[in-house]
Amino acid sequence: MAVDLLIVGDGLAGSAAAIEAARMGASVALVSAAHGSSDRAQGGIAAATLPEDSPRLHALDTLAAGGALCDPSAVAMLTSAGPETVRWLESLGVHFDGGSAREAAHSLPRVLHLGGDQSGSTLMTFMRRAIEREPTITRYRARLQSLIVDESCGGASFSGGLTMRAGATVLATGGYAGLYGRTTNSRISNGKGILEAARAGARIADLEFVQFHPTVFDGIHTFLITEALRGAGAILIDEHGERFVDELLPRDQVARAVAAHRGRAFISAVHLDPDLLRHSFPNFVRNCRLAGIDPLRHPVPIAPAAHYTMGGVVTDLDGRSSVDGLYAAGECARTGVHGANRLASNSLLEAAAFGRRAGAAAAGAPKVEDASQVRRRPWRRGSLTVAQVGDVLDSAAGVLRAGTELKGALAELRSGAVSSVAADAADMASMICAAALARPASIGAHQRRDEADRIAV
Ligand code: FUM
Repeated sequence: MAVDLLIVGDGLAGSAAAIEAARMGASVALVSAAHGSSDRAQGGIAAATLPEDSPRLHALDTLAAGGALCDPSAVAMLTSAGPETVRWLESLGVHFDGGSAREAAHSLPRVLHLGGDQSGSTLMTFMRRAIEREPTITRYRARLQSLIVDESCGGASFSGGLTMRAGATVLATGGYAGLYGRTTNSRISNGKGILEAARAGARIADLEFVQFHPTVFDGIHTFLITEALRGAGAILIDEHGERFVDELLPRDQVARAVAAHRGRAFISAVHLDPDLLRHSFPNFVRNCRLAGIDPLRHPVPIAPAAHYTMGGVVTDLDGRSSVDGLYAAGECARTGVHGANRLASNSLLEAAAFGRRAGAAAAGAPKVEDASQVRRRPWRRGSLTVAQVGDVLDSAAGVLRAGTELKGALAELRSGAVSSVAADAADMASMICAAALARPASIGAHQRRDEADRIAV
């Protein structure tokens, strides 16, 4: 099959790219394996929409969070696109809750929610309706296997024997936090798009920057407890009911405090208005009850988990990678807006704003006529499973890392003792550990325990 534009991944970035390209007259194939992280977002979309706010103030907060490693031109583009992106989403029929919420590390309230803490799923419902209205977008359900690359990228092959040739290909496959054992992400966020881009020769950067969320349910099934709940007054306590951290510090500092805390940690909302909890935090109340805890009456156990990944395919401001014909947008792209740490709720904005830009640039790209070489890797034999790869990442490349553990993890992941189904996971995990090992200094979300004097909790 051949189309003008192939988009892999149908989250917010892929959907925005598809709509923008379709409106330029391109035929678009939108291929995805399952819903990814956009549907799970709780915190909303950051944009300077209040009169007292401005893209410049939003940019200053973004740069501060990124630990001096952001690309200022990318940040300026992101934050100045904020208000227009919100209007574009509204023009597609998206309906935001009233008002703007303030989240940690934002100097002003600027986070727009949809359906309280159900922002991502509500937003994606609107986006899917908008896609249905575009006659030149065709959707497919299949899992990415590899990119078709020769001199340039000419499409991709997928599970089920689907081969899609395309004038340009946009990866919108999400990040790699789902590789970790403890994660807020779906397992589909396994870095596959980034891995295939690397195998195709694309530049990859910043894989060591993994953001851990401090308040993730500590039980058999993990689920995110939005930091907006702390913004509304929920507190973090130990098993004796004592507070041990300022709950409104930036999330990576709170995550380090929870990780460093000896004994169990809990989030308590028992002192908050039950009606507020039911109305503004329906996910929290429902998920806790499903796990057998009534959060209106009891503290809820929490621990950090991998949440968002800043590294990925290096792109310019129009999503172009270093391989001709290959673009990336959303969490799989490393645009330079997040630096060493993402400011909360900038991800949905990045996905929509840079997804649109990538869609427009890719739709206007010259056609690739033939690119027939599908790169395949040799199969390996062994026993390390995907779940064990997740455990290796949790212990060696978690909230606090150390060189000796990273080296040990790399040796294990590269030993060849990997089952064929875990080969991709092991390759991606090796890239993460190698990037973390190569950065001996702590910065942003990357904190080295073997550099203890620089860890600020
Ligand atoms: O805590 C949260 O609601 C997460 C928000 C985000 O990752 O942007």
